Amino acid sequence: MNTQAEDINFEKQIYPFIKSGCVKCHKPAHEDERGRTRKPKGGFVLTTKEGIMTSEGEDGDKFIVPGKPDESRMLQVTKLPIDDDMHFPPEGKAPQWTDAEQALFAKWIEAGADFGDWKEDPEPLAEVEWDGEEKEAGTVETAE
Ligand code: HEC
Repeated sequence: MNTQAEDINFEKQIYPFIKSGCVKCHKPAHEDERGRTRKPKGGFVLTTKEGIMTSEGEDGDKFIVPGKPDESRMLQVTKLPIDDDMHFPPEGKAPQWTDAEQALFAKWIEAGADFGDWKEDPEPLAEVEWDGEEKEAGTVETAE
């Protein structure tokens, strides 16, 4: 392993694209404006470290396997063909992760999935606006 975990800041570099791409559906249970309870899709909460680390897909695949990006379901689903039922986010519902974001996420897992001091999103219900345009590839900066 040649990547140091401390090179990547989870909160600043990784969480933003989890928030924009995934949290719309994977936020904690809450009441909507009409007082109806909204549960996280599939039961998966991606706004806390605990939620990310304890989630397992329907076949028992852990969302994150530290050191093993290829076995981490949370990365796999973003790379499945866009028309696969298990591809997330579903097309048009939230911005797809770019190649650079997928690569950075893989590198972060490879380096041991270090969250630093981050435990949870302080505002898990706050929406990220999306204009429906996919981001351009290569827009994520790595900390060099
Ligand atoms: C529009 C809503 C929506 C968005 C956005 C979304 N998901 Fe999901 N996700 C779901 C639903 C619904 C399920 C449960 C699917 C099922 O069990 O059939 C699910 C299930 C999953 C699973 C479990 C797959 C398995 O093996 O069972 C993973 C992993 C996942 N999502 C990751 C993500 C990631 C990562 C993102 C962001 C890049 C994301 N999701 C964005 C709705 C969404």
